[in-house]
Amino acid sequence: MKSAALAALLLIAAAAPALALTGTCDFSQRSPIGTPYVNNTKVTDAGRLPASRTPLWWDFRTLQSATWACTKKGLNGWTLTITHAPIPGVTKEAFKWMWANLATKALAPDGNTYPMFQLLHLRDHAFHDSTAKPLKVGATTTWVEFPLTGCSGSGKGQPWTCPPAGSANPGFVQSSPQSEWQCLDQVNATTTKVMLFSASTVKFGTQGCIPAGCAWIITTQHRWIYSKPKNVLSVKTTLRVGYGNPTNDVKIVDGWRNGVDALEKCERQALHFVEEIGSTEHWLQAAYKAANPTATAGR
Ligand SMILES: *[C@@H]1O[C@H](CO)[C@@H](O)[C@H](O)[C@H]1NC(C)=O
Ligand SMILES: *[C@@H]1O[C@H](CO)[C@@H](O)[C@H](O)[C@H]1NC(C)=O
Repeated sequence: MKSAALAALLLIAAAAPALALTGTCDFSQRSPIGTPYVNNTKVTDAGRLPASRTPLWWDFRTLQSATWACTKKGLNGWTLTITHAPIPGVTKEAFKWMWANLATKALAPDGNTYPMFQLLHLRDHAFHDSTAKPLKVGATTTWVEFPLTGCSGSGKGQPWTCPPAGSANPGFVQSSPQSEWQCLDQVNATTTKVMLFSASTVKFGTQGCIPAGCAWIITTQHRWIYSKPKNVLSVKTTLRVGYGNPTNDVKIVDGWRNGVDALEKCERQALHFVEEIGSTEHWLQAAYKAANPTATAGR
């Protein structure tokens, strides 16, 4: 990100309160909002954390590998756009298959199978489910994750430092004391719906309703294009928080940032997306091939 643009964003974000990411936290103070905008998104249930985790098999990509921007949308909403660096060896069929089957198990580099959601992010992902398997438009999905677990830094133009491949996986497991994860940046979205799912696009949205009607208040879209001559997948990610209503967008952003400074939240989310999408180069094509031995497309 260009430093002039960053400076402008820092000014905009300065009004949001800072968050202490350690110690005890009062959940009731962290998202000063209620229905109908965004429901309480705290992770409270260690039963939804994995019993164990795989080693950190690979280094994740850094934010510097991508072209990205966190910008204000309208008066009070936010937009995150990411153009990921090309992903070698991953086909569009495999990428679509991954989104369709995140809730089921797939082959990992150690020869065992794991929930594909956990393969997508070895460190941050805890739990995923969908009311339709394979995924389809209209399905309701659940996502439990802890973006940037074990990484130090606060973003805002400064790089985070994350545990390298080979170090112990800091991702939380069922036996992790709640005091270790309860105050961290976390996602517990239980009502995210599939808005769009095609050969090149998946879009998830959270709907918020007020007496006047409903709107898609937080949406995440991934779009991909495969280049056969180069054998690379190009992926763009767009996250939108808020729908253009200046008053309601404040409450929506408060629910989304979940106690974290809004710009920091956006940048944490950016790095998490860059890490997970980029890591598909290490495992996805082999997992796809193993699950679809007769598939002719997608190598
Ligand atoms: C997510 O939040 C809901 C309340 O909105 C709660 O019932 C559920 O247990 C939470 N999930 C986890 C994994 O803590
Ligand atoms: C929040 O929860 C209420 C009741 O549990 C539900 O009716 C409503 O749809 C939820 N809102 C969102 C935005 O998920």
